[in-house]
Amino acid sequence: MRKIFVIGIGAGNPDYITVQAIKALNSVDVFFVMDKGPEKDDLTRLRKEICARHIKDRSYRIVETPDPPRERNAPSYESSVRAWHDQRGAIYEGLIEQQLADGECGAFLVWGDPSLYDSTLRIIDRITLRGNVTFEYEVIPGVSSVQALAARHKITLNRIGKSVHITTGRKLSEGLPDAIDDAVVMLDGDCSFKAIDDSGIEIYWGAYLGTEDEILVSGNLRERKADIERIRQDAKAKKGWIMDTYLLRRNAGQ
Ligand SMILES: C[S@@+](CC[C@H](N)C(=O)[O-])C[C@H]1O[C@@H](n2cnc3c(N)ncnc32)[C@H](O)[C@@H]1O
Repeated sequence: MRKIFVIGIGAGNPDYITVQAIKALNSVDVFFVMDKGPEKDDLTRLRKEICARHIKDRSYRIVETPDPPRERNAPSYESSVRAWHDQRGAIYEGLIEQQLADGECGAFLVWGDPSLYDSTLRIIDRITLRGNVTFEYEVIPGVSSVQALAARHKITLNRIGKSVHITTGRKLSEGLPDAIDDAVVMLDGDCSFKAIDDSGIEIYWGAYLGTEDEILVSGNLRERKADIERIRQDAKAKKGWIMDTYLLRRNAGQ
């Protein structure tokens, strides 16, 4: 039987890797690496560094495959993502079938935690449902960018007995519902917080969390949003890519 590990490697700091992840890394024969976008080279390098640093007395192979581009002109966002997952599913299936011998162990190293805005588990589910290739798999949790954000700002995400909402920039651009007091926003390439004009909201923003380029800004949203937008733009221009996450907190004093 082949085995696949889906390993959360943390969202930026190489020290975010867990002991469980290190144990899993040390049983892997083949690492499958697929990244996309301008951050691809940096993230691929970090994965290789993690392998080199933590894998002891064991040889392993790294198989790099270009990620298929997502169709940007599809009729809807959901349909373009589904089609993209199908393409990736076919690629992953081929990789497992062709690159992994019976009895060998393969791994996908997932940025942050595999449960949060990552398609690897959804794709693995599809492959197992199709049944063309059989394998067992195990998921190793990682430190997500949301946890990194909270730790670096020294905040709890929820207030006593309250909920926390996790969403995307795309959803936030439709507005922050009145019923939501605490929202973590990810995947926001457009600074969707700009459109929110409520004097009672605080923002806790973090870019490149856990890395040497980390930037943290917090304060009243109305007062800080122009600064954050400018800082974000400058950082992206300098490095070529940016990953940022933030918490919006209504009525922070209560
Ligand atoms: C495709 S999602 C992957 C999330 C990842 N699975 C996790 O657990 O954090 C990418 C988004 O995660 C957030 N993100 C990931 N790493 C980050 C970091 N080091 N600093 C700030 N935000 C980060 C950003 O919102 C980015 O747009």
